Amino acid sequence: MTLTDFPAATLGVAPVVPAGLPVEVTDHEMARYIELIYERTGIRISPQKKTLLSNRVRRRLKETGARGFTDYYNHLRRLRPNDPEWEAFLQEITTHETFLFRDEGQWEWFRNEYLPGCAAGARGGSRSRQLRIWSAACSTGDEAFTAACCIADALPDAPQWHVRILGTDIGTGAVEQAGTGVFGERAMKLVPESYRRRFFRKLAGANLWQACPVLTRMVAFRQHNLLDPMRDGPFDVVFLKNVLIYFAPDSKRRAMEHVRSAIRPGGLLVSGPAEGIGEHVKEFTRLRPWLHRRPQ
Ligand SMILES: C[S@@+](CC[C@H](N)C(=O)[O-])C[C@H]1O[C@@H](n2cnc3c(N)ncnc32)[C@H](O)[C@@H]1O
Repeated sequence: MTLTDFPAATLGVAPVVPAGLPVEVTDHEMARYIELIYERTGIRISPQKKTLLSNRVRRRLKETGARGFTDYYNHLRRLRPNDPEWEAFLQEITTHETFLFRDEGQWEWFRNEYLPGCAAGARGGSRSRQLRIWSAACSTGDEAFTAACCIADALPDAPQWHVRILGTDIGTGAVEQAGTGVFGERAMKLVPESYRRRFFRKLAGANLWQACPVLTRMVAFRQHNLLDPMRDGPFDVVFLKNVLIYFAPDSKRRAMEHVRSAIRPGGLLVSGPAEGIGEHVKEFTRLRPWLHRRPQ
């Protein structure tokens, strides 16, 4: 998650600021917003992102009728973390960029190595037909549905398995969207043609795809902040991708404590290509740069 570049800021075009609203946060206000965002999400925004942050927050000033950046800051401070305004604020300042089959090599491993290994283990009696997956910071659920596609394909007797894929995200809007199982063409760009036909239904009159029950019955979504302990689990595999890259070191450590203890002994952690979690999984076995096994 990051403050994605806002066109007006990147192109150097001055944003149109409605009369009466301040143009930019002061250094003091910036410092307070940095602290607030850090406390709530674990992300430490660079003070250099002042213009970007101002443009984003100004949209909330307009929506809420706040008189300025300090007024809105005080308003957020008074609200409970589950207030819809917090959700709207986080939506403005974070990116939910995701798509199905992102990092295809990881999904090839999951589908062609990991799942056949599980199937062989179940046939040989060395493991049960239970599979628990966590897509942490799942955004709109694309990762969770990708896991479901692979399972439906690679486990021929999938209906006999007890599969639970849990997707969680700090954003309640994101997890609500994930629960619909509806994806646009952009999110579907890497989904193989045969999977589209078998596991999705094109919605009439829209360029949208609805996941079929064979997938939706495996997945569940709920709100969860990685800075808080995880009450579900333990999981066989945790996908933790493209979220910790912008966390401050201490919040990354805290999130990783929660993630580590949610993985069952012998279970696996799949991280994003640039997650930077090496020092937090020292006791794990590194199988690939992005794949770590928790000791038994
Ligand atoms: C770029 S998306 C990554 C989605 C998916 N994991 C992927 O790699 O395609 C980052 C997600 O992290 C979520 N996020 C940010 N901070 C979080 C936190 N403290 N706890 C849980 N989720 C968080 C954001 O809401 C956003 O949906």
